[in-house]
Amino acid sequence: MVHTMKSVVSSGTGLNMTCDDSVAILGGPPAFDDWLHVGRPNMPDRQVFMRRMDEVWDSGRLTNLGPMSCEFERRVAEISGRKHCIATCNATVGLELAIDALGMRGDVIVPSFTFIATVHALWRQGIRPVFCDIDPKTHCLDVNAVRGAITSRTTGILGVSLWGNTSAGQELFALARERGLKLLFDSAHAFACGDAGIPAMNDAEVFSFHATKCIQAFEGGAIITDDDDLARRLRLMINFGFDGEDRVEHLGTNGKMSEPAAAMGLTSLEALDRIIGHNRWNFEAYIDGIEGIPGLSLMRYNTNQRHNFQYVVTELDEERAGLTRDELVAALRLENVMARRYFCPGAHRMRPYAQLFPQAGLSLPVTEAVSKRVMILPTGMSISTADVTRLTSRIASILARGPQVRAALKECRDDRLPEFFGGKGSF
Ligand SMILES: Cc1ncc(COP(=O)(O)O)c(C=O)c1O
Repeated sequence: MVHTMKSVVSSGTGLNMTCDDSVAILGGPPAFDDWLHVGRPNMPDRQVFMRRMDEVWDSGRLTNLGPMSCEFERRVAEISGRKHCIATCNATVGLELAIDALGMRGDVIVPSFTFIATVHALWRQGIRPVFCDIDPKTHCLDVNAVRGAITSRTTGILGVSLWGNTSAGQELFALARERGLKLLFDSAHAFACGDAGIPAMNDAEVFSFHATKCIQAFEGGAIITDDDDLARRLRLMINFGFDGEDRVEHLGTNGKMSEPAAAMGLTSLEALDRIIGHNRWNFEAYIDGIEGIPGLSLMRYNTNQRHNFQYVVTELDEERAGLTRDELVAALRLENVMARRYFCPGAHRMRPYAQLFPQAGLSLPVTEAVSKRVMILPTGMSISTADVTRLTSRIASILARGPQVRAALKECRDDRLPEFFGGKGSF
């Protein structure tokens, strides 16, 4: 059962918005009976996956670079327009291996506004992350800030194609080439984004096929590159350095993708157009629903390029909205909606970096501001455009009742409230 009573209320800013009448934090029924949350897996065709699993079972080949993972690599390379794809057990190991194989050492420039894995992948290999600020429009590295951060110790740039944004690639590539630096992209979010037809604007890129991503392989990742020698070394490195039955030619680890993971990955890839189409419909519904909500803005994507629309990125301007981002996220938990504060705080404020680089925030004003404003809203195959309309309408209602919502949140002891708001975050 869902609750959809609607009315038009004044937002107090002269704008009228379509709102639900009720708000859960003020005692109304929640907007959703079942949890709506960011990152619910896009499940592909069950029968097709089961047939593939039968094949894996019958072949007795569960891992070790079997036919499923080889086929998965071929498809990912083709869709990305790159010469080589090396499938990995996840993106984090893929990043660590690519960083090492590219010879990054000393200092590497990286955004702080990213998932912590990007930075850990450097520090775990003894590389000092030099945190650099981001462009407020794309949330990706600010090329001018990168230019200013390069020193004689810098060996590379680890960019992040955050939310699938690939626009800074060309400029960063020119800068990296000019200064003799390696350029790697953490493209965990960016599978099937950007221009596939043009030459690579980086030395390598790493995708994530984690369950929360557009395409998923339970857990999985892939490194793509046009560089033959880099690809050859990475192939050795994901398999302990083995080159043949018992000959080890390189330092390596176990970074292989298993056959069941590749079976899921291949089945998920077959649904790519359907998933992106669905996300796109939801995105259009978000555009309609968010338009006119004072203080809430939606990041728009460059529609001249491919995009997977897997992330619905909003920013809340506290002054205009009348509530903070954290208050809105908390009020939504009572509607059974798990919106997320990605990435808050920035990596430079997390351990061990906060202790190691206590002054880092001074050169990251955009990161500091954006991490207080961003709220990611749910999308994907499990969410319909009707859900999106209901959700945006409920957000409008919550914001229209800002002062009452703020007062009610102060008294609220519900376990569903997020930990950062004194709750248990249980759902
Ligand atoms: C930007 C970014 N980088 C790296 C990762 C790590 O990916 P994986 O879970 O596949 O290791 C994630 C995961 O969400 C991510 O969002």
